[in-house]
Amino acid sequence: MCGIVGYTGKRKAAGVLLHGLSMLEYRGYDSAGLAVLGEDGQIRMEKATGKLYHLDKKTEHGERLPGRSGIGHTRWATHGEPNEKNAHPHVSGEWKQGAGNFTDSDVIGVHNGIIENQTELREKLLRHGYTFYSDTDTEVAVKLVDYYLKKYQIGPIDAINRMMVRVRGSYALVLMFRDRPGEIYAARKDSPMIIGVADGETFLASDVPAILDYTRTVYYIDNYQAARILPGEVHFFDLNGDEISLSPVTISWEPKAAEKNGYEHFMMKEICEQPDALRNTLTHYLKDGELDFSQAGLDSGLLGGIRSVCIAACGSAWHAGVAARYAIEELAELPVRVELASEFRYRKLLLSPKDLLIVISQSGETADTLEALRIAKRKGIPTLAIVNVQGSGIAREADHVLYTLAGPEIAVATTKAFSCQLLLMYALAVQLAYVRNKIEKERYLYYVHELRHLPDKAADCISAKEKVQRLAAKLAGANDVFFIGRGADYAVSLEGSLKLKEISYIHSEAYAAGELKHGTISLIEKGTPVIGILTQSSVSEKTLSNMFECKARGASLLAVVSGEALSDGGAALKEEDDASEWRWIRVPEADELFAGLLAVIPLQLLGYYTSVSRGLDVDKPRNLAKSVTVE
Ligand code: G6P
Repeated sequence: MCGIVGYTGKRKAAGVLLHGLSMLEYRGYDSAGLAVLGEDGQIRMEKATGKLYHLDKKTEHGERLPGRSGIGHTRWATHGEPNEKNAHPHVSGEWKQGAGNFTDSDVIGVHNGIIENQTELREKLLRHGYTFYSDTDTEVAVKLVDYYLKKYQIGPIDAINRMMVRVRGSYALVLMFRDRPGEIYAARKDSPMIIGVADGETFLASDVPAILDYTRTVYYIDNYQAARILPGEVHFFDLNGDEISLSPVTISWEPKAAEKNGYEHFMMKEICEQPDALRNTLTHYLKDGELDFSQAGLDSGLLGGIRSVCIAACGSAWHAGVAARYAIEELAELPVRVELASEFRYRKLLLSPKDLLIVISQSGETADTLEALRIAKRKGIPTLAIVNVQGSGIAREADHVLYTLAGPEIAVATTKAFSCQLLLMYALAVQLAYVRNKIEKERYLYYVHELRHLPDKAADCISAKEKVQRLAAKLAGANDVFFIGRGADYAVSLEGSLKLKEISYIHSEAYAAGELKHGTISLIEKGTPVIGILTQSSVSEKTLSNMFECKARGASLLAVVSGEALSDGGAALKEEDDASEWRWIRVPEADELFAGLLAVIPLQLLGYYTSVSRGLDVDKPRNLAKSVTVE
C-alpha cells in the first residue's frame, strides 16, 4: 500500500526521494508528496494527486525543493479521499494549497498504517487549540507529536515515544523537525520500514527496492522502536527512550533485479524469470539429492509429529495454499485446512500445539496474514512461514521460515512468487510424506526428480507464449469468463481467474467444475469463454463433460491440458482443435500432483496479454496494492 521514503546525506534529497518513490509505485497509490529541508532552514513541500509524474512535473524533477534531507510518500487512500489536502506529508501547523510550497510547521511527517483511535485523539487536540485541514489519521499523529514536544518541552524521541504509547493501530511514521536540520526520525508498529546506511548518507523506505540502488546494508526497526537518522548513521531507541543496538543485515537481492531490464512490463519479466526463480528456490533446499529443510528448523522430529496442517494466506498466496492441500493430503495423508487469513482471525481457533500453521506470503507484510500468525503463536501453535521478502514482519515472527527465492516482485499481479510458493509447498508435501513413512525412498526420489524438472518445463510453457497471445486477443472483448476445474485443477482455476480479472478488468469467476450446474451455468451465453483446466486424469473427463455442457449453451471453450490427463476425451478434444470456437493449450507432462504449477503459466500469460491488448496498466492495475498492510 502506501510507500515511504526518507533521505539525509550529501545528494539532492528530492531526486533520491522521487527515485525511491518510483521504485515503490508498484505498492499501489493514488497521490504523492515530498518535503525537503533546505540549507536555508526552510522546509518546502509539494503534493500531487494521481501518478508520480505529476509530482515530478510540479517539482521540476525535484529542483524546486532544494536540500539534502527530506521525506516522501505515495498514498493509498484509507481515511479521506485521494486529494492534495489528504496527500502526505502532513504538518503540525496549517497547510494551504499552493502557498509557495513553504511550511512554517515544526513537525512534518509521512505515515503508513492506520491510527485506530484517531477520532478520540483529534478531539483531544482540538481541545488544546489545534485545527485540522485534512481527513487523515496521519495529521493527527503528526500533531500529537508536536503537542507532546511543546507540552513537556522534550526532544523528538521522547515525544515520539509518548505518541506511540497513546495511539492504537499500525504505523510506520517518519518525521522531520524544523529545528533539527539533516535529521529524520522514525517510529514503527506493525507497518514495514527499513533503514539503509551507506557512506555519509542514510535512506529510509517502506520496502527494499526503493534503496537497492544505493545500499544493501539495512536495519529492520522493530515494533515500538524509534530511530534518529543522520547522514551515514542511525541510532535506535526503545520505548523508554534508552538507546539500543540493532544489527545490520545485508540484502541478497541485486539492484538490477528490481529493474525492467528491457521488458515492457515487470509482469512479463517476472513470468519469464520463473524457471530461474523455481530453480534457485528448490536448489536452496536440496542437499545430496534430497530435500533438506533443517536450516529452517524443520527436522523429521517436528514434521513427523504433526497431527494436521492449517494454511492461512490472502489472495494468490491463498490459492497456493488451496493447491498445496491436494498434494499434502494425497502424499502425507495429513488433514489440511486452508483459511483466508482475513477470516481466520475472526474465527475460533480450533488448533492445538500438535498442529502446524503455515502462512504463505510474498511480501511477508500482509496485515491479515501477519495477524493469523500472531494468533497461532499466542496459542502455542507451531508456525511456518513461506515468504519471499527477507526480514519482513512475517519472516521475523514465524517460528520457522522457508524463503521463496523469487527475488523482488514488482508487478502487482504475482507470478514468480506464486509459482515458487507452490513449488515449496509441493516439496514440503513430499518431505512430510517421507518422514511420516507414507512413501518409500524410491518413490521419494522420484518425486524429488519430478520437482527438479519443473523449472525446465516452466521454461517450455513460457516459450509457447505466442499461441497464448493470439488467444488473448480473442478474450479481450469478453464481458465474463469462467474458469473451471476439479481437485488441484480447481486451485489453478482460482489463480487463472484472479490473474485475468485483476489486470484486464474483465469479470471472471472460478468454479469447481461440478458446481456449474448449481446456478452458474445460467450465466453462459453465446460466446461466453469457458476455460477448463485438465491436468488430473482421474477427473479430467468429468471436467471435459462440464465444458461440453457449456458449449451446448453457446460457450466458447479453451482447455489447458497436461500430458496424458485426457485419454478418450483427448481424441475428441483434438478433433475439435480446428473448430473456430475451440482452442487448447498443452503444457508439458509432469507428475499430476505438481502439474498445476505448469498449467498456471499459460493463464498468467493469458491475463497479461489480455490486459496489454486492452491497453491497460498491466503492472499497476487500478485500486490494487501489492502489499496490503492494513486489515
Ligand atoms: C495483494 C496482491 C496479491 C497477493 C496478496 C497477498 O492482493 O496484489 O498478488 O497475492 O496481496 O499478498 P502476500 O504478499 O501476502 O502474498
